[in-house]
Order: sequence, then C-alpha cells, then structure tokens
Amino acid sequence: MSQYKNLEEKIKKCCKCHLRGTCLNVVPGEGDTSAEIMFIGEGPGENEDKLARPFVGAAGKFLDELIAIIGKKREDVFIANILKCRPPGNRDPLPEEVEACWPWLVEQIKIIKPKLIVLLGRHAMERFFPGQKISKVRGQALRREVSEIGKQVFYVMYHPAAALYQGSLREVLIADFKKIPKVLEAIDKKKDMPINYVEEKVAVEENKQEALF
Ligand code: URA
Repeated sequence: MSQYKNLEEKIKKCCKCHLRGTCLNVVPGEGDTSAEIMFIGEGPGENEDKLARPFVGAAGKFLDELIAIIGKKREDVFIANILKCRPPGNRDPLPEEVEACWPWLVEQIKIIKPKLIVLLGRHAMERFFPGQKISKVRGQALRREVSEIGKQVFYVMYHPAAALYQGSLREVLIADFKKIPKVLEAIDKKKDMPINYVEEKVAVEENKQEALF
C-alpha cells in the first residue's frame, strides 16, 4: 500500500474527536498525491459528508472553475480540509476539533510536499497565520516556517463559498487565482537564491512570514 493510502486508511478510522459520531463519512481529501498545489478548505459540508469527497457542492463547482482558469483539473491538484469530518449543521470548527485533526493535515502535507499551499478562507488561514486578517493577506504569497512541516509557501484566498453569498468577491477570487502561475514561478526563482537569503528574510519578518512579492 502506498504511503498516502496507508495514511488515508488511518484518517478514515480516526475517532479523536466527537465529530465522527455525527458525520456520515470521513473526508480525508483527494487528488494527485504528488501535486505542486494543495488546496486547504475548512471542512466537509452536507454534500461532501454524503459523498466522502471534498468540495463537491456549489462551492466545489466554483473551485473547479477557478482551477480551470490556471489550466488545471481537480485531479492535477490535491484538495483537503482543516477538518476531515463535518461539523453538525456546518457550524464553524471548534478549536479542539482543529487541534485533534491537525496531525492528519501535517502528515498529508509531509507526503504531498506541495510547492504551494492555497488556503481557502478564514479558518484555513487562521491555522497557519493566526491573528491575520484575510482581507489583508489574500492574494499574497507568504513563506513561513511551520514547526511540524518546515518552510512552506502559502497563498491565502477568500473561500469560494464566500463568493456565492457575496457576488463582488467572485472577481476578487478570479483575479487572485490568475496570479497562481506567477507565484509558482516566483517560488522556483527563490529556490535558486542562496539559502541564507531566505533564512534572513524569514527571521526579520514580523510573525516570521515573508511576502514573496
Ligand atoms: N467547504 C469547505 O471548506 N470544504 C469542503 O470540502 C466543502 C466546502
């Protein structure tokens, strides 16, 4: 069994928090387990819970459209969530649920090793950039050190569901998405930089994060 499949089996059997008692299915995530881009949303909703697949409802349809803008299909990327089980009534995740689920996300990231992690929405952003405002950091590539993972580049965006409720965000999301290929290029360029360049920048930035451009 592949390393990822092995992890997926463990995630499916997880009972570390009470959400497993109320959800229908565990939704570990899906896609290319060696993808360059990994998307992280909040948690499964009703449709995802029924089908055991991430982003398959209305927000998922919009996410598919956004992924097509950068010339990719959902099978080319990896899509996961902060929570693997649906909170009842789609309420916000509780801190203890996020904590209980966090090691699974860490293991997924360690196996996939994405070049870029796209954080969809406030809850995903909060896990990696606590205290930040999404309106301030969206559309920016940020590199930071995460103790369990190491240095990683993130790109924060509004959640696709937000555009379904607030039509004006649709264009913002589309514009932010169109910048992703440039972000990937910038990451490649920075790789050629001497390592102390990155170290220095990371060390001096407030909150240990660095805007790539
Ligand atoms: N919203 C999310 O954050 N994740 C899903 O999988 C579906 C909707």
